Amino acid sequence: MKLLKTLAIAAAGIALSLGAAQAAEGQKPAKDVSFSFEGPFGTFDRGQLQRGYKVYKEVCAACHSMHYVSFRNLSQPGGPEFSEGQVKALAAEYTVQDGPNQDGEMYDRPGLPSDRFPSPFPNEQAARAANGGAYPSDLSLITKYRPGWYGTFNQLVNGIGGPQYVYSVLTGYVPDEELSEELKKEQPEGKLYNPYFANGHWIGMPQPLTDDQVTYDDGTPATVDQMAKDVSAFLAWSAEPKMEERKSTGFMVMIYLGILALMLYLVKTRIWAKAH
Ligand code: HEC
Repeated sequence: MKLLKTLAIAAAGIALSLGAAQAAEGQKPAKDVSFSFEGPFGTFDRGQLQRGYKVYKEVCAACHSMHYVSFRNLSQPGGPEFSEGQVKALAAEYTVQDGPNQDGEMYDRPGLPSDRFPSPFPNEQAARAANGGAYPSDLSLITKYRPGWYGTFNQLVNGIGGPQYVYSVLTGYVPDEELSEELKKEQPEGKLYNPYFANGHWIGMPQPLTDDQVTYDDGTPATVDQMAKDVSAFLAWSAEPKMEERKSTGFMVMIYLGILALMLYLVKTRIWAKAH
């Protein structure tokens, strides 16, 4: 009885705190788009991660950095799994500043697999200046930093909804001509209406995706919806590159505990059998 009560209180507490976080932000719940890596057994779709990298590189990287990802991560198991040769070539497409050399000067060289993804702007001020004062945040951990509310069940079983949040922001713009008179009046200069954005409806990011903006190597049609999904999956991986390893370890632990519980039960019945 006591256990039941405690459980009920804990559940109510969780529901309340999730609800409160939701209400405080007052934003629209994230779209419930499903991904291959959801749930306790979900894994990443390599093709999707490779397409997502392409979208990041060709579109998002113009404004957003990804400080915590190195090119070599792209070939590690559990990720997009590009070959090492491909990663060398991908890295070499970038110019990276290195140094200082023996004369104390910085110099440019082609990127190496060990380099982090280079930032598009030298510092935060430059990034803001180029974006009308808004700051394009680093995307490496965005799917952890911004959970998307998409239902209690989903949030408990399928994940915190970070990729759903990114997807919703990318596909959630309302064109200016569809805004009500009221909203038009409060529209800040240079901002667009996006009810999914966690920082208050008006977003300083121009709508980044249009159909056929990238050409996928695997022939997948590059619709806005597809690109948004792919890049969201890529960002889910960058925020948790060891997810597949964690899930398979967790599964083994559950099996181990199951066998242990069974054995303990059998031992217990044996020991107590004589006591009767
Ligand atoms: C032209 C520059 C530009 C491009 C290109 C761009 N963004 Fe942004 N992005 C911004 C800016 C600026 C903000 C901050 C907006 C604000 O604070 O109002 C932002 C905000 C965001 C946010 C919300 C962050 C938060 O704190 O909740 C996400 C998610 C995002 N961008 C993802 C992307 C993805 C994914 C791409 C590529 C498909 C992309 N962006 C392309 C400039 C850009």
